[in-house]
Amino acid sequence: MYALAINGSPHMGNGNTAKILIPFLEGMKEAGASVDLFYTAKMNIGSCNGDMSCWFVNPGICGQNDDMKMLLPKIKEADIIIWASPVYYSGITGPLKTVMDRQLPAHVMGENRSKVQKAVLVSTCDAWELSMFDPLLVQMKSIYNRPDGGYQFAGALLRPMAEGMKEMIKAGEMGLIEGIFESAREAGHQLVKEGRISEEIQQAVSRELMPRDAYYKAAQEMIEQMKKSS
Ligand SMILES: Cc1cc2nc3c(=O)[nH]c(=O)nc-3n(C[C@H](O)[C@H](O)[C@H](O)COP(=O)(O)O)c2cc1C
Repeated sequence: MYALAINGSPHMGNGNTAKILIPFLEGMKEAGASVDLFYTAKMNIGSCNGDMSCWFVNPGICGQNDDMKMLLPKIKEADIIIWASPVYYSGITGPLKTVMDRQLPAHVMGENRSKVQKAVLVSTCDAWELSMFDPLLVQMKSIYNRPDGGYQFAGALLRPMAEGMKEMIKAGEMGLIEGIFESAREAGHQLVKEGRISEEIQQAVSRELMPRDAYYKAAQEMIEQMKKSS
């Protein structure tokens, strides 16, 4: 089983999104999957020019000469594709959306897929509200749960309050966040072994760490402190 993960965070391996993604990928490897991870920030990938030549003129071939040449065969081959991104203005980051757009040659008309490609979303955001991820989920389901089959959305690991989580890690206060990373790892095991991530595990990754008002109050206090010390 081959899994391809693409992380669209500019913070790459040091970011909040990586804190969920890395144990998830480790879990997948432990369960026997072969995993590749790429960061959009390390790749040179231009915007889709929209000429549709990859569909009609040279089916399956993109005329642009950049890192998509290396990534496209991997996207085609992947049994599982993992889109990882922080929430930026209610969506995925621009560079990750660019990779999504540039997949078109791998999804050309009339393509006969011999297997179902599963897709997973891994995302983090600053807000307390889990609903912050709704637009991203709508996008993923719309792309992958298509009536023509061949693709399937297999679940999402969503971590709201991620900036709070980062501060807790910095302060060594692991009590509240204990279990989140272990659940992400377990999600990787489940996906490889059972082909899906259970609701229970998804909820464990997203679980509430503190009441909404307390979170925003602590965030405000931290901003005030940062202003004072700068
Ligand atoms: C340009 C920008 C836009 C953002 N938009 C949102 C947003 O709409 N909602 C939200 O909750 N957090 C938003 N955030 C916060 C990030 O989603 C959050 O800090 C995330 O955990 C960062 O992940 P990373 O460290 O992997 O990059 C935004 C951050 C930036 C820099």
